[in-house]
Amino acid sequence: MTDLRHTYTRVLDYVGESLPEDPIHNWVLDETDRRGLPAIQITPEQGRLLNLLARLLGAKRIVEVGTLTGYSGIWLARALPPDGLLITLERNPEHASLAREAFEKAGVADRVRLLEGTAAETLATLTLDEPLDMLFVDADKANNRTYFDWGWQHVRPGGLIVVDNVLANGRVAEPHNGDTYARTIAAFNQYVSETYGDLATILPGYKRDEDNLDGTLIVRVPLEES
Ligand code: SAH
Ligand code: DHB
Ligand code: MG
Repeated sequence: MTDLRHTYTRVLDYVGESLPEDPIHNWVLDETDRRGLPAIQITPEQGRLLNLLARLLGAKRIVEVGTLTGYSGIWLARALPPDGLLITLERNPEHASLAREAFEKAGVADRVRLLEGTAAETLATLTLDEPLDMLFVDADKANNRTYFDWGWQHVRPGGLIVVDNVLANGRVAEPHNGDTYARTIAAFNQYVSETYGDLATILPGYKRDEDNLDGTLIVRVPLEES
């Protein structure tokens, strides 16, 4: 396992060096760290995936649950056309404050609306002027199902729901799904698999700290005729 991790670290370095980088991403990561806020952003590879998926959808409306300091939001917002909108939800004012700064610095503030508060409450009153193309869920895992069900009602046919951390640092695979956190996530995965299984995939991948494995769930909302 140690060897595998070593190889993976080198492979990630290779991937990073092989793809162009915008300094804004590292600025957000550094500034998050400098303020003592958590380094739990998605990886650059996940960021690229979100950006690519949004572009493939021709997305104009995206909702994100769990902004943190704007790292994933920048990847999403950069996929939007000038008249596109990312609505991103965050309950922690310190996180939201840096996120606003980051969106300004990245030049996407005109395409982002950050709504502060408890996500479930914000979603319950949210109205959209155009069809929602994509929902990205990355907040309190116990509410994954609430956010997913909201997405199922609001994302347009053919749109996507993406959920981070569905492997609970790999602990979903432990006997009896390990601990409470992992069991919560395993129950959510089982719900998705039983209800929408043939519309979904889980992509495993290493976390930012490269010590843990986690996964990204991607579900496509079916077209009306299917
Ligand atoms: N998507 C971010 C990381 C999000 S970390 C990125 O990759 O850059 C999870 C965030 O969700 C934290 O900032 C936390 O404050 C927020 N959060 C957790 N529970 C929440 C809730 N119920 N409502 C709104 N935000 C919540
Ligand atoms: C952690 C990682 C995440 O991606 C997240 O959304 C929440 C917590 C973590 O590693 O603790
Ligand atoms: Mg996450």
